[in-house]
Amino acid sequence: MEVENSTLEQGKALAAIEVEGLTLRHGERVLMSQISFSVEPGEIFAIIGGSGCGKSTLLSYLNGLRTPSPGEGHLQFFGEDADELFSASDGRRPRTCGVLFQGGALWTSMTLLENVSLPLQRHTFFSSEEITDLAAFKLALVGLQGFEDHYPHEISGGMAKRAGIARALSLDPKILFLDEPSAGLDPVTSRHLDELILSIRQSQGTVVVLVTHELSSIFTVADRVAFLDKETQSLLQIGTPMGLAQSSPHSAVREFFAAGAISRPQAKEHA
Ligand SMILES: Nc1ncnc2c1ncn2[C@@H]1O[C@H](COP(=O)(O)OP(=O)(O)OP(=O)(O)O)[C@@H](O)[C@H]1O
Ligand SMILES: [Mg+2]
Repeated sequence: MEVENSTLEQGKALAAIEVEGLTLRHGERVLMSQISFSVEPGEIFAIIGGSGCGKSTLLSYLNGLRTPSPGEGHLQFFGEDADELFSASDGRRPRTCGVLFQGGALWTSMTLLENVSLPLQRHTFFSSEEITDLAAFKLALVGLQGFEDHYPHEISGGMAKRAGIARALSLDPKILFLDEPSAGLDPVTSRHLDELILSIRQSQGTVVVLVTHELSSIFTVADRVAFLDKETQSLLQIGTPMGLAQSSPHSAVREFFAAGAISRPQAKEHA
């Protein structure tokens, strides 16, 4: 069989996400310089680092809400340039990237079913019956069967996170971005959320990129971890959770793991 794809010829699968030389900035303010890493198909990849270092900002570049300034980096998704993917009007972007934003709220005036239906209404031509079926399926996938007609104020915080994940999964994205999904949840609920993340990867094959401060989540779900360092404005280290926790040459990484990663300021810094 003739193999045309040059990457296949090299015997290497296309990365789900390839980030090369990316600078993260808000206007004039640079948060990180020259970040490079890749996320592999099937991988659960965690992004960690101190509060305000730029984790959510990195996610916003990865899901196309921000684009690199000219000459400040390059992103590819399964071999496709981010510029093309994010400017496509055919729904390829939401089908590639599903997002649960930090503190990601549901629409309060809509039921859970309506919340999950919304992206399907916006980005597909399915009939309303098909959309209802699909949305109900996604809610069942996250363990919320029977809660379709509930409003966000009628459910717990953990259930709201699940519903947010169902909404992020509504278009069967190849990559699911989760920004601190277990923040504010009790340890048991948080543990259930970790199990859900693992089951989504297993049943849907979804790549998961997750920002978290929770050590238990990092060790339970992440295949690899990237540590962003505010002081050096760099991606200091990438490796397995155990690798970083046990033998990092970087004091910032060692401190993060030694501190249990829980002693973070409550107030978000907006410098
Ligand atoms: N839209 C924005 N405009 C200007 N500055 C911003 C904006 N969003 C965030 N920042 C600043 O960029 C820095 C990084 O913010 P970001 O939210 O990416 O950090 P983070 O690592 O996600 O922090 P946390 O752990 O608190 O969620 C912070 O100093 C923040 O104040
Ligand atoms: Mg954040």
